[in-house]
Amino acid sequence: MKRRIGVLSGGGDCPGINAVIHAVVKRAILTYDYEVVGILDGFEGLVEGRYRNLAYNDVSGILPLGGTILGASNRANPFRYPVRRKDEVVFEDRSKDLLENFEKLQLSALIAIGGDGTFHIASELVRLGVPVVGVPKTIDNDLNATDITFGFDSAVHVVTEAIDRLHTTAQSHHRVMVVEVMGRYAGWIALHGGIAGGGDVILIPEIPFHMEGVCNFILERREKGKRFSIVVVAEGARPLGGDMVVQRIVRESHDQIRLGGVSHVVGRAIEEKTGLETRVVILGHLQRGGSPTAFDRVLATRLGAKAVDLVAQNAFGYFPAVRGQDIVPARIEEAIACLKTVPLDSPLLDIARSMGTYLGA
Ligand code: F6P
Repeated sequence: MKRRIGVLSGGGDCPGINAVIHAVVKRAILTYDYEVVGILDGFEGLVEGRYRNLAYNDVSGILPLGGTILGASNRANPFRYPVRRKDEVVFEDRSKDLLENFEKLQLSALIAIGGDGTFHIASELVRLGVPVVGVPKTIDNDLNATDITFGFDSAVHVVTEAIDRLHTTAQSHHRVMVVEVMGRYAGWIALHGGIAGGGDVILIPEIPFHMEGVCNFILERREKGKRFSIVVVAEGARPLGGDMVVQRIVRESHDQIRLGGVSHVVGRAIEEKTGLETRVVILGHLQRGGSPTAFDRVLATRLGAKAVDLVAQNAFGYFPAVRGQDIVPARIEEAIACLKTVPLDSPLLDIARSMGTYLGA
């Protein structure tokens, strides 16, 4: 009997998931003669027995598509599964259902495409003996033990284009534009997007900002004849001695906190303290939608193919990690040991400062 492997996309979506699925299916069929089963809506599909077979032709043309043909869920933790009872949501351990469905589908391995939350679930499953290989995915680039995750480059591309567009309107109206980007507790998207777009101020969670310093910097620019400023602020940025701005709590999610709205706090303070007309733009889920960049397509293809190789080697509990130019096996446990935030001695911070960019402190 042919070996059957399952593939699912957990957590929030991002550009490049379909490119991974495309690579998994082609590598599995062409190189190893495996069968592939696509699990629908992340771990939810494995708990509830929802899936579709993925034949070679099923992945034709999906490589450039945004989103995921399998659907995703960032609320379906089998160990803490949300169940609606009358008006309230309660949590149940449904890992038994997952194991039963895994058997029923006659799977010999599962490839879980995901970030922090998905990898936490994957590592618990590995402890229970489920043969899981991960594929590192997140626009935030905050997964430890890999230099980069796919989806990040596409998000940075969106941010860069947005800043380019904001530049022209900021210049015309002599305004301050505050643009808020995603990234959770890591400033990677803000830092890379801010440098690529030539942001004048970049505020990241790793460096609590000094509001007075931001306002003085913008006023100094004004005095030097720069009548506009672009402020790039990460959703997780916070003022010195202050807190992150929480937009909502999602109880069913691995990380229940959803950040968002700090740009309004920053924008209001700039307008009040400098007297300069200020506008705020929150890029939000635009950063997660649409086609992956060429870089992400190549990375996703390399990671998807390598994940199947790891399955073939029975390297369960591992995922393909990017180290420099290479893709190497790394332990899922290592990826979730801590969040990969921007180190304060990052050469990129130094580069940004040397371009005259103010980093908030
Ligand atoms: O982790 C990816 C991410 O897009 C974060 O940057 C953001 O904080 C969060 O997910 C948003 O989650 P949701 O899609 O649940 O609003």
